[in-house]
Amino acid sequence: MSHPAIVKDNVAVITGGASGIGFAAAMAFARAGLKICIADVDQDRLADAATKLSSVASAANVMTSAVDVSEAGSVTKLEHDVRDRFGRTDILMNNAGIQPGSTLFGEPDNWQRVIGVNMWGIIHGSRIFAPGMIARGKPGLIINTGSKQGITTPPGDPAYNVSKAGVKAFTEALQHELRNTKDCLITAHLLIPGFVFTGLTAKGRSEKPAGAWTPEQTVDFMLARLEAGDFYILCPDNDVPRALDEKRMQWAAGDIVENRPPLSRWHPDYADAFATFVKGK
Ligand code: NAI
Repeated sequence: MSHPAIVKDNVAVITGGASGIGFAAAMAFARAGLKICIADVDQDRLADAATKLSSVASAANVMTSAVDVSEAGSVTKLEHDVRDRFGRTDILMNNAGIQPGSTLFGEPDNWQRVIGVNMWGIIHGSRIFAPGMIARGKPGLIINTGSKQGITTPPGDPAYNVSKAGVKAFTEALQHELRNTKDCLITAHLLIPGFVFTGLTAKGRSEKPAGAWTPEQTVDFMLARLEAGDFYILCPDNDVPRALDEKRMQWAAGDIVENRPPLSRWHPDYADAFATFVKGK
């Protein structure tokens, strides 16, 4: 953990920090001696998570905050509360996310919730925290959790894909802005998890499927890639190696370049061509 922001007594704020990937990140940052604020909409999970964090951090260094990231006012209050308690934020991980499922022409509720939490949550967090982080003039990180589904946009859950495509576009613009801001020592990063066994993906299972990574594996990978300076933190899992992700992403971009129909990877007329492409022929 040699990234200059990941040092003892710095302050990390993690949304969706009460479970899954966010909680694993909170534990890793706490073990590194950082002060932690976990922000989550689920108060019971927050209480459980705080108890677990107390095994690796003193109570004085752990803050919990009931926050709905889809509401700008709630995120503004979070930023103020962290400043009151710890004085500043050095690391912001905008990670809260939901995946209740969606259909193209179904009720709009899930569309609004998914885009509200997954996309607006990240926009609110970045816009509300970044100016103060930049102004301090110290190294810092903003890590936004996206998804491969925001890049290859597979059929089946269009609202989730749209929200995560928005996270990718926003975070790319954010990093461009930060690197063109004078004296700015904050960098943005897009975390792109693979299949991770969490509440979001458990779907009633209590055992981790063989193909999934654990949240801890995902966070270990994230920390190594932050140290290496990656913007796109593209995580593999036990089923999908990086080489296959690269092929899938190249094929998706190729739909435009090659003038194929959208989502041609799932179009029967292109099944053989895609299989051949993946084999590298
Ligand atoms: P999780 O369900 O364990 O954690 C998500 C947390 O976000 C929960 O604690 C939940 O209470 C919180 N949350 C939900 N709505 C919120 C809101 N409005 N305000 C504040 N907190 C809220 O799921 P997981 O897997 O750890 O998800 C973390 C992120 O990783 C999400 O953005 C998800 O889309 C993304 N992701 C997960 C993958 C996986 O395979 N698990 C794959 C790709 C991306």
